[in-house]
Amino acid sequence: MPFVEQGLVVRHNQVSRDMWELEFIAPAIAPEALPGQFVHIRSALGINPLLRRPLSLYDVDKKLGSITLLYKIVGTGTNLLTRIKTKEYVDVMGPLGKGFSLPPKGKRVVLIGGGVGIAPLVYLARVLSDRGYQVKVLHGVESRRQLVAFDKMRQIGVDFMPSTMDGSAGFKGLVTELLQKKINPSEVDYIYTCGPEIMMAAVADYARERAIEGELSMEEYMACGVGACLGCARKLKTDDESYVKICKDGPVFPLGAVELLG
Ligand SMILES: Cc1cc2nc3c(=O)[nH]c(=O)nc-3n(C[C@H](O)[C@H](O)[C@H](O)COP(=O)(O)OP(=O)(O)OC[C@H]3O[C@@H](n4cnc5c(N)ncnc54)[C@H](O)[C@@H]3O)c2cc1C
Ligand code: FES
Repeated sequence: MPFVEQGLVVRHNQVSRDMWELEFIAPAIAPEALPGQFVHIRSALGINPLLRRPLSLYDVDKKLGSITLLYKIVGTGTNLLTRIKTKEYVDVMGPLGKGFSLPPKGKRVVLIGGGVGIAPLVYLARVLSDRGYQVKVLHGVESRRQLVAFDKMRQIGVDFMPSTMDGSAGFKGLVTELLQKKINPSEVDYIYTCGPEIMMAAVADYARERAIEGELSMEEYMACGVGACLGCARKLKTDDESYVKICKDGPVFPLGAVELLG
């Protein structure tokens, strides 16, 4: 059952040219929040834009009761969000959607994020690491300034492997090339991924060819966010007869369940 609450903003800072971190106190949502779920946030007071915007749980501090979001500015809603100041309130609904499932204890997991797709993987990395899983995180970006999750990954204590297209940090090239060239598949039991669909398609092919299980987190335009409007309905495979609602049945699905636009 999702809650709607006014979250007191305790931190809101720009972390790269077009990305911001927003932390707010959400005493109802934070204790229930699971990795892979999202909140639906109203980006401005008044009615413009009317709709909420879905953003993944980037990090959750259950002791403090706070939620942190990582967002990239793409349009009206995310632009307006940047105007919110510390000590103001944000109107949030959550936690929403079906999050990641955890593999059996002792499994070695690899998390692969592309760009801002790293957002849901940070809170997942924290939960997996707290529970004793061996975690590797691969993050692909254009250039080192976009490696915004670096400090959090170091603090969580996972093995963090960046890739940059310009070679300014870590492996030079695509994150999927990093996966192919530097990760020994016999040491991977489970894969989680989030990012551009073309990247997730390559990750899904890699996993299928090596019989590795995993999950991905999908993006879709959303209106209500709670399964009431069909705004996010999509067929997971072309031949499927029925539609799923990404907001309620997802955003997380098994890797093999989705036909991606590769
Ligand atoms: C479950 C879920 C979790 C998400 N988590 C994050 C996150 O953690 N961080 C983050 O930065 N973004 C995340 N997104 C995407 C984010 O919701 C959109 O970027 C945001 O809603 C755009 O709002 P806007 O008003 O700024 O842009 P709009 O003015 O609505 O759109 C601007 C441009 O972005 C495109 N666009 C908008 N929404 C989407 C979308 N969902 N998929 C593809 N293209 C889109 C539009 O076509 C348009 O070209 C998530 C989306 C979903 C569905
Ligand atoms: S956004 Fe309304 S059903 Fe998913």
